[in-house]
Amino acid sequence: MIDLGTTLGSVELRTPLIGAAGTVGSVVDFAGVADLSLYGAAVAKSVSEEPWEGRPAPRLAPSGLGMLNSIGIQNPGIEAWVEQVGPYLADLDVPVWGSAVGKTAAEFGRVAAGLERAGVQAIEINLSCPNLEGHGMFALDRDATGAVVGAVRQAVGIPIGAKLSPNAEDIGAISSAAVAAGADWLVLTNTVWGAGIDIRTRRPLLSGLIGGYSGPPLKPIALRCVLETRRVLPEVPIIGCGGVTRGADVLEFLLAGASAVCLGTAHFDRPRIAGKILDEVRLLMADHEMTSIRDYIGAVQPW
Ligand SMILES: Cc1cc2nc3c(=O)[nH]c(=O)nc-3n(C[C@H](O)[C@H](O)[C@H](O)COP(=O)(O)O)c2cc1C
Repeated sequence: MIDLGTTLGSVELRTPLIGAAGTVGSVVDFAGVADLSLYGAAVAKSVSEEPWEGRPAPRLAPSGLGMLNSIGIQNPGIEAWVEQVGPYLADLDVPVWGSAVGKTAAEFGRVAAGLERAGVQAIEINLSCPNLEGHGMFALDRDATGAVVGAVRQAVGIPIGAKLSPNAEDIGAISSAAVAAGADWLVLTNTVWGAGIDIRTRRPLLSGLIGGYSGPPLKPIALRCVLETRRVLPEVPIIGCGGVTRGADVLEFLLAGASAVCLGTAHFDRPRIAGKILDEVRLLMADHEMTSIRDYIGAVQPW
């Protein structure tokens, strides 16, 4: 009997797959196209305090083996979200986590409180957005990361995870700041900055010129972030996120030290891909004569 259950701090997940923020809509809409029972959790699209319009088209573009996006975190704002999505959360066959985004630490805290009120079971803090209190992204700076995580920690009682950026110069240091401020786990990682140009029209592939690059080419970068963070924070739960499309990718992230993985861009090709991935995981585990997926976590061997 193969056990796919895993644990993130105090949270039990029935499978190691988590629907990645921004790729499973509000989760309520995703229930119509995929089997939610295959996921340990699903993260709804990031929400801010006020409505954000998002960027103009084009804002999604295939590029190489991955995908560029600059959606601009289009969302209706927390009040509308609580009203529109909140009432449906309890009926879904998956624990739904909210994703908070904001322009200041205080705004993150207020959004997180709204998400908790709506009934989400955990909160992911999307630190990969511009920091209007300072420069660059929150997730590039230890103090800014700590301030945001601390504000969310103060605002809610449910578990919180900090979603960091592969663009950070020292991911271990940013991870440490997030954990010191109260993050229960780390999500490694969000998209990496990228760009593309159509050589016929000579225009950028994205209206915003630069966007986030995701999909299979992100996997080695995200895996490196997991390994580096695990080295400095061996006891802190990690969710690997970047380029998972196969069962083998799941096991690779777990061996590196992740306890679960997000599934993002893969949904755009094939919304029901979770079933295929879990079948592959079971086959690989049988081949490795493993019965509990937990036994892979951090089991990478040195040369
Ligand atoms: C179209 C699109 C929208 C996204 N929106 C969000 C978002 O709202 N919040 C967030 O934290 N991450 C967002 N992400 C990032 C994903 O959750 C994930 O971290 C990233 O795509 C890497 O995983 P993947 O390679 O499996 O897609 C988005 C990604 C894509 C492709």
